[in-house]
Amino acid sequence: MPVNREFRPARLAPRRPAVQRLAPLAVALACLGFLAATAAMPAAAAAQAARPGAPRGADPWWRHAVIYEIYPRSFQDSNGDGIGDLNGIARRLDYLESLGVDAIWITPFYPSPQVDFGYDISDYEAVDPLYGTLADFDRLLAQARQHHIRIILDMVLNHTSDQHPWFLEAARSRDAPRHAFYVWSEGRSVDSTRAPPNNWVSLFGGSAWQYVPAVGQFYYHRFYRQQPDLNWRNPRVEQAMFAAMRFWLDREVAGFRLDAITELFEDEQLRDAPVLGGVNAQGDPILSDVYTKNLPEVHGVMRRLRAMTDRYPGERVLIGETYVPTTADLDAWYGGAAHDELQLPMDTLVGLGSRLDADTFRHQLSEEQTQLHHSQPLLVFDNHDNVRSWDRFGDGLHNAQIARIIAALLLTSRATALVYQGEEIGQTTATPTRVEDVRDPIGITGWPRQKGRDGERTPMQWDDSNPQAGFSTNPHTWLPVTPNYRAVNVRRESADPASLLNWYRSLIALRRSNAALRSGRTVMLDTGNKDVLTYVRVAAPGEAVLVSLNMTPRTQHVSPGLAAAGVRGSQLYTLLSSPATLPAAAANARLSLPPFAAWVAQLR
Ligand code: NOJ
Repeated sequence: MPVNREFRPARLAPRRPAVQRLAPLAVALACLGFLAATAAMPAAAAAQAARPGAPRGADPWWRHAVIYEIYPRSFQDSNGDGIGDLNGIARRLDYLESLGVDAIWITPFYPSPQVDFGYDISDYEAVDPLYGTLADFDRLLAQARQHHIRIILDMVLNHTSDQHPWFLEAARSRDAPRHAFYVWSEGRSVDSTRAPPNNWVSLFGGSAWQYVPAVGQFYYHRFYRQQPDLNWRNPRVEQAMFAAMRFWLDREVAGFRLDAITELFEDEQLRDAPVLGGVNAQGDPILSDVYTKNLPEVHGVMRRLRAMTDRYPGERVLIGETYVPTTADLDAWYGGAAHDELQLPMDTLVGLGSRLDADTFRHQLSEEQTQLHHSQPLLVFDNHDNVRSWDRFGDGLHNAQIARIIAALLLTSRATALVYQGEEIGQTTATPTRVEDVRDPIGITGWPRQKGRDGERTPMQWDDSNPQAGFSTNPHTWLPVTPNYRAVNVRRESADPASLLNWYRSLIALRRSNAALRSGRTVMLDTGNKDVLTYVRVAAPGEAVLVSLNMTPRTQHVSPGLAAAGVRGSQLYTLLSSPATLPAAAANARLSLPPFAAWVAQLR
């Protein structure tokens, strides 16, 4: 994982038909002067395509879903301790439903010493008191179901906390039954002192090996030393972790996001990693990860895990934290042509870059159409580990317009979409400016080169009712609220038809109701154009939607060439546009797009 400044539940109630959900939105769009071409769609067809719970051919729910990532510490505090919690999430379900999300992925809330804010788990089958109780979780699950929202949990299979009873036992004696749950080595002798067995470094800084005098061995930790890696070569580890997952599957969670899944196995011979030269942000030598990442053994585990989750009713989903360098590498995580591993390994190739570049997006989106054996990409532009897309793609002058382009790209592509809390209102990255304010340990050890991930984890900005932006009643929130909360918040943006939040809402509603955007194939158009990304989503003859995104601060002209691409239709009717004034146009016209315009149009 480059930490860069890097089930439907069996008894899920059917969601209200989308036409009903869309009604207030259609009014808002009409007020804005949008041409409500959706209204021209046959109503029955729109409703059929839109209603989760309605028959959709062979499509599982997650294929067209919008999945919303919740970092619970920063979402909503319900008990005034300055830290978000499960009851806080329950309080915001109305908001999530109105946004149109199908599922929430909640990052870890299990008991944990919180060294890595929950990614160091000391009990996989309980809830940390900081976040509530198991009863709170069960209530949240039931309430979410009433809001037609599924819950996906974060499952950390690579490592536990060093306070997990398994590790406490393992570190006591070599003879302990669970000693072999972890990766141990006696190390080597250098100048008659004991040294780690090889040159591997932790992704969070320093040697990846920690000595335990009681057993006279080093244990391996890919992340913090408080996060010892599990030994997946031991079949008992798999049994224990699968049992933990069944605990939650039996409670009817919709699936799991698998943390650091690429790191599960290491080289059995513990060979030194090739040195690539230079130092990273933690000041450690940059090494090849050939012996510590993406080892082929992991795929056997993924296939067995998939077979286990497939035995549960309701289309449980497996999402992977899969930072990989190429689309072909991503395909392996689906199981290639066999489609027997993860349904949704995260595609970080499209959205976690930092250049708003039509060619790069076109290339990557095209590869996904051709190199994934028809699997569904899961596009990710934001998460709790990376500088927010607002700041990565923004040029400092047009960030608000650029954020709309990113949203359009995310929500009109043939992909499942991941939205990270705050992305939909344009929350910004607020990286600490003083080391004494940093909470993320990698920002403390790596300062000033590595300032940590606090910046993208600041509290959700709900309103301006108090200086905590409605996140908490406690003036001492665990991370400070970003000062721009008075302008950038959910309440204010909800009331403004032209806000980024309403742009997200409109795109999500359109994506739900429009057959071409839901499941149409993608045809790239005007492919020589370096400034504008244009594509058409085609579901069937007569059902096509054109998307054109001007990625420059200059007016651009586009010749889509629809007829030449074999896509029929004579007129383009605006469904959504930014700026709001883009008119209808003849399909064979040369289109003129204002700076950073985003245009979504129905072809008839
Ligand atoms: C990836 C998680 O997203 C990140 O927050 C965490 O620090 C590491 N995995 C280690 O679990």
